[in-house]
Amino acid sequence: MKHEAALAIARAAAERAGALIRARWETPLEVQHKGEVDLVTEVDLAAEAEVLSVLRTAFPQDRIVAEESGGEAGGGRVWYVDPLDGTTNFSHGLPHFCVSIGLVDDDGPVVGVIYEPIRRWTFHAVRGGGAWRDGHRLHVTSRADLGTSLLATGFPYDRRTNPNNNMREAAWMIRRCVGLRRAGAAALDMAYVAAGWLDGYWEGKLKAWDIAAGTLLVTEAGGTVTGLYGEPLDLAAGHVTASNGHIHAAIVDELLAARQSGTSAP
Ligand code: IPD
Ligand code: CA
Ligand code: CA
Repeated sequence: MKHEAALAIARAAAERAGALIRARWETPLEVQHKGEVDLVTEVDLAAEAEVLSVLRTAFPQDRIVAEESGGEAGGGRVWYVDPLDGTTNFSHGLPHFCVSIGLVDDDGPVVGVIYEPIRRWTFHAVRGGGAWRDGHRLHVTSRADLGTSLLATGFPYDRRTNPNNNMREAAWMIRRCVGLRRAGAAALDMAYVAAGWLDGYWEGKLKAWDIAAGTLLVTEAGGTVTGLYGEPLDLAAGHVTASNGHIHAAIVDELLAARQSGTSAP
């Protein structure tokens, strides 16, 4: 299989970082603030160091862009690493967080691995090879009606001070779908769309490391990933709508309608 080596290394890196995270779950943590509500712990840093050491040893020529240590994207292969997606959950003991590793080349995402340390689930996808949770092939749902769809979203870290904070969109959408979740880990939101546990997801102001792996999982599971309003996805822009494809236009239309409404009241 093409990209077999990259997949194996990404899995090893995610599972090693995940073991480290699992060992620190529900233990006392040093929590620091990157912003008013944007947290980082020593476990984020240790998990990132673990992932980077595995990737650099295996593929010294590749670029790496990682949440806690930075790095520059550019031409050729780039690894996007979120060592702990869902830090707020983790720092409160809420067992919903993951390691997310995506490899992107000049044609888009190639390999995506999302590892949930507590459930010990590994989601993975290779371009052209389908999406998987361990040995289970993943498929998006076939639901075509927004009104019966279960959706997820998230709110940006500047939400206390910036009115462009997704509140209006969420208030609008929750009246038009069967349920709206804010679970707190963007990579898992996307993996769960791929798994058919959610029908759709949107969120803005993310980073490429939040969505690189999840994007490949959703598309390889038969779904659609675009920018927030249906434009081609730009990983660096970090605005994403992901769905089973059938409800994609409906989500985009409602997001546009919410934005144009100028009020939370539909
Ligand atoms: C965050 C989570 C959250 C999303 C935030 C992300 P972090 O990542 O994915 O669900 O709403 O915007 O930044 O900070 O836990 O890695
Ligand atoms: Ca993240
Ligand atoms: Ca993170």
